[in-house]
Amino acid sequence: MKDILNEIKSNAKALNKTIVLPEGEDKRVVKAASLAVAENLAKVVVLGNEEEIKKANPDVDLSKVIVIDPVTNEKTAVYAEMLFEARKGKINKKTGAPEYADVDAAKASILKDYTMYAALMLKAGDVDGLVSGACHSTANTLRPGLQVIKTAPGINTVSSSFIMISPRENEYNPDGVAVFGDCAINIEPDANQIADIAISSAETAEKIAGIEPRVAMLSFSTKGSGNDDKFFKSVPKMQEATKIAKELAPNIKIDGEFQFDAAVAPEVGLLKAPDSEIAGKANVFIFPNINAGNIGYKIAQRFGGYMALGPICQGFAKPINDLSRGCNVEDIIAVIAITALQAK
Ligand SMILES: CC(C)(COP(=O)(O)OP(=O)(O)OC[C@H]1O[C@@H](n2cnc3c(N)ncnc32)[C@H](O)[C@@H]1OP(=O)(O)O)[C@@H](O)C(=O)NCCC(=O)NCCS
Repeated sequence: MKDILNEIKSNAKALNKTIVLPEGEDKRVVKAASLAVAENLAKVVVLGNEEEIKKANPDVDLSKVIVIDPVTNEKTAVYAEMLFEARKGKINKKTGAPEYADVDAAKASILKDYTMYAALMLKAGDVDGLVSGACHSTANTLRPGLQVIKTAPGINTVSSSFIMISPRENEYNPDGVAVFGDCAINIEPDANQIADIAISSAETAEKIAGIEPRVAMLSFSTKGSGNDDKFFKSVPKMQEATKIAKELAPNIKIDGEFQFDAAVAPEVGLLKAPDSEIAGKANVFIFPNINAGNIGYKIAQRFGGYMALGPICQGFAKPINDLSRGCNVEDIIAVIAITALQAK
């Protein structure tokens, strides 16, 4: 198995970025913070009350971890102002009232929601990346970023991908690594969103997985061989997404639509898409919706023995990553390193 995690860690070390972990109440997070700074992966800020964190984690060395308590931090007022300004005119879907009536309401809110607090630190440039989700849902972890960090220039969709690491030599995956997107965030993306997912996944492949991306837009059809016009129109959707992605990112190698075998098996690619420079050689795979993506990555994991690293969030203007609530300390350390690389 390619030791991609060690490559990611050593690349992260050279960058010396600052990553905020808002979940100081979670022991795994505190332990990971301590180990990440001991490994020099990044500078790490944990949010919470220092005395309480020390009391709850007596065996953890916090000497090199920066602990910030939002309750006493002098910048809290600045962050509250930033939130109020950023969300002016936005209506709370549940109550029908403005999200924040005034700056005081914004302040009260960030003192309850440290993920939003951390997103504002990121927006202010006080940290370089944000990792959360050990004890919060995906929606509660991503929403602050979606609301105040927004998307990267040229991208309108925040999405995710998995870096899939091969357990053995594989003739269909000579790099030993592949990227699958989007298996975790966008439920039923349209053609424009799929084009964004393709461009962002190519960036993840290059920046984090360290491979030169060759992007395949996946379908049950190859270059018009099948159609589902009576049902979901997913074939024309992938064709349109391919066209949009090529126009938006002419420097990235993208082609489709392909069945998976036409994307990875040279003999099938040659037969079904003889003019394509991607067919039979793809290493980045874009799925038509979350059903296909989520099922696909789990098949590779369970039947193929692939290790799935992620989901890695992509497309934010500044890096934010969501942990699984079942994560362990090592998982958190890996995500800290990935987030530092995304901040490059
Ligand atoms: C991503 C997700 C959390 C957003 O949910 P939400 O908070 O209800 O989103 P909303 O529709 O209220 O949108 C909030 C803001 O984010 C924006 N937004 C939502 N999804 C976005 C996306 N994928 N990319 C960019 N912006 C997005 C909206 O435009 C909105 O902006 P605004 O408030 O400034 O106008 C939601 O799509 C989700 O839960 N996805 C599935 C995640 C999941 O359960 N995965 C399973 C894990 S395997």
